[in-house]
Amino acid sequence: MIVGGSVRVPGDKSITHRVLLLSALARGTSRLGGLLTSLDARSTARVLRQLGAGVSPLRLGAATIVTGRGSLLRPTEILNCGNSGTTTRLLLGLLSAHRFSATLTGDQSLRRRPMRRVTLPLSTMGARFTERNGDGLPLTVEGARLSPLSYELPVSSAQIKGAILLAGVAGEVEVALREPHGRSRDHTERLLRAFGYTVRESDDWISFSPTGRIEPFEIEVPGDPSSAAFLVGAAILAQSGELRIAGVGVNPTRIGFLEVLRRMGGQVRTESGATQFGEPVGDLLVRPGALRGTEVLAREIPGLIDEIPLLAVLASRAQGTTTFRQVGELRVKESDRLGLIAENLRSIGARAEVQGEDLVIEGDDFVPQGKVRTATDHRLAMAFAVLGTLPGARVRIDDIACAAVSFPRFAETLRKIGKRARK
Ligand code: S3P
Repeated sequence: MIVGGSVRVPGDKSITHRVLLLSALARGTSRLGGLLTSLDARSTARVLRQLGAGVSPLRLGAATIVTGRGSLLRPTEILNCGNSGTTTRLLLGLLSAHRFSATLTGDQSLRRRPMRRVTLPLSTMGARFTERNGDGLPLTVEGARLSPLSYELPVSSAQIKGAILLAGVAGEVEVALREPHGRSRDHTERLLRAFGYTVRESDDWISFSPTGRIEPFEIEVPGDPSSAAFLVGAAILAQSGELRIAGVGVNPTRIGFLEVLRRMGGQVRTESGATQFGEPVGDLLVRPGALRGTEVLAREIPGLIDEIPLLAVLASRAQGTTTFRQVGELRVKESDRLGLIAENLRSIGARAEVQGEDLVIEGDDFVPQGKVRTATDHRLAMAFAVLGTLPGARVRIDDIACAAVSFPRFAETLRKIGKRARK
């Protein structure tokens, strides 16, 4: 493939969920531009409508208008969060502070994902949960008047952190929390600071005081670096050219994958642009080139958790060994991502194995050929599609349509970046 031109990626998924939720809490009308319109974003919009917010249809290229009532209303039906763990966990935080009960469920993948990691701290704050399927969904939450919380998270996770912070916002109580293995994405903290809340960081602790207020707002959501990562990967594997990915969020807690790629010899430059609501935005410029193996340390993992499928497929083509340390958390993503990355790499001819909690990949210049089982995991589908752009590759992905969970028109965009240079 020869890459070229300039391309944009859909809006940031994490920021999209958060601004939808926060605008539903404001009293009045907010205007959300650049919002992600994927299936996951639609899940958040749908459940917020069930909770009394006005949310206009999510349309590519058009702003979304949200009319909030200052708080959420008792839903009359079960809230279906689809495939979205972020929708579920952040919403559980908000609902914990609302004095009614609500039942949440999701698709087959989401129903198997662990929820006690959020229900445990939220019940310590005073909310009540009725489990209907052990640690998973469906689950009923009954909100209460919340008490302050000081809590050490069992894993570094922006979803657990976000749920607790949003419970603090909606319940107007102080919370303090500590992440054990490095800082996860900090979008909730940045947004809350923009609304005047006190969010302090010291000695690994984050402390929140309910000093602010969510007022209706206008925002332009930047492109999602996790979506951009797949195009970065395709451009690195290309034979020649240069690709610009414009308007991407470059929040330092999200771009750990760029640091790893540079360490592997990847040629990626960042051109910085504006900052909005504390979120820096920039363009990524990528050139093709050979990669070498590296060790990705446990403390780096929270900053690139969603990019491991992509980094792993690139590592399979790098010179030498790449080891991802302590990546057991991947077992509870949209699929058992850890097992499936290794299994799928092997089934297309690469050498990869899970050793305890580590993922080890022996790279070489093999030509990928074979079948990929995604278990409807969008990031697995996209990562292996990137490998399928290599000359001679024949990679058959069982479900490329699942990319729409986070990246509408992914396959089209991937084709487009290759075609441009041929014009
Ligand atoms: C997200 C946090 C991450 C990430 C997910 C989105 C978020 O999960 O994998 O895709 O928006 O908070 P964890 O923080 O639970 O690892």
